[in-house]
Amino acid sequence: MNSPVPNLTPQKPVPQPDSPDGLQPVKGVKSILLVASGKGGVGKSTIAVNIACALAAKGKRTGLLDADLYGPSIQRMMGTRGELMQDETGNAIPEQTHGVWSLSMGNLTPPESPITWKGSLVAQALLQLFREVSWPDLDVLVVDLPPGTGDIQLTILEQIPISGAVVVTTPQELAVADAERAVNMFHDLGLPVFGLVENMNAYICPCCGEEQALYPSGTAPRLARKRHISMLTGIPLDPSAQEFADNGAPLVLSAPESAAAKCLLKLTDEVNEALEREESAQVLREKDLGNPDAEEFWDNLLPGD
Ligand SMILES: Nc1ncnc2c1ncn2[C@@H]1O[C@H](COP(=O)(O)OP(=O)(O)OP(=O)(O)O)[C@@H](O)[C@H]1O
Ligand SMILES: [Mg+2]
Repeated sequence: MNSPVPNLTPQKPVPQPDSPDGLQPVKGVKSILLVASGKGGVGKSTIAVNIACALAAKGKRTGLLDADLYGPSIQRMMGTRGELMQDETGNAIPEQTHGVWSLSMGNLTPPESPITWKGSLVAQALLQLFREVSWPDLDVLVVDLPPGTGDIQLTILEQIPISGAVVVTTPQELAVADAERAVNMFHDLGLPVFGLVENMNAYICPCCGEEQALYPSGTAPRLARKRHISMLTGIPLDPSAQEFADNGAPLVLSAPESAAAKCLLKLTDEVNEALEREESAQVLREKDLGNPDAEEFWDNLLPGD
């Protein structure tokens, strides 16, 4: 078993949630967006990195947290140094690259070291990534999740107030079936799902610009209709996306004129609108809390009252 990571190995009890709904905000962070999937390898990290960089380019103060503790990708994709920086209190300091402050297990462990922690330790380390890190004040914190509906997803949903999630899938039926599990988990726990993103849904010829479908289409849109969620802009397969990702150079900044980057920028606009809508709704909900006029208004709307 590898030795636990200095400073991230939980040494003290995690503070208990003190808000009425059991959720404890992350200091200085306005909105938190989850990038999720059912199946692995469908492009979550690629999409999380590009959304974060595109939001930062729009002027949003943006952070990116790699919640994939067992298979972190963000340190490499963001081109950060891969070493832990700490402030005087021992908190980790996220490094800013491409306008985004990011933190990943890749900054805390050597690339070849496996993380072999069991459930409770993982949950505590994960919460430390949210709460015991010197995040600057942020408009948005994008969280790159591991695949599936396990401990990490549940720990976040039970402890951290989240604005919403986007669920990434590829067009194949097996991937969409797993995406449905992720969508259902968010719905069961009352989290807004901003929409479904179909990644690698087509190939666009770089010479003539002709679009070729790679798989039969229709499975992901069917899921979106069934679960009453939006189909967001899909992203075509672009071999340079992988090359840029491996070299810490996100596509939206490195090749903004490519078809895939244009789709990622459009997707970012959609996500940004959803985040802003959710923020306004939250402000209204907070105003209404304990406001007798608002309570009367809602009571009068209920049939039979
Ligand atoms: N649109 C795309 N075009 C070409 N390659 C892509 C595209 N999206 C992702 N990739 C490549 O596919 C591979 C998997 O992508 P990524 O790591 O983002 O998936 P993931 O869902 O985060 O995987 P995991 O579940 O393991 O965390 C990477 O090599 C990435 O560069
Ligand atoms: Mg990933």
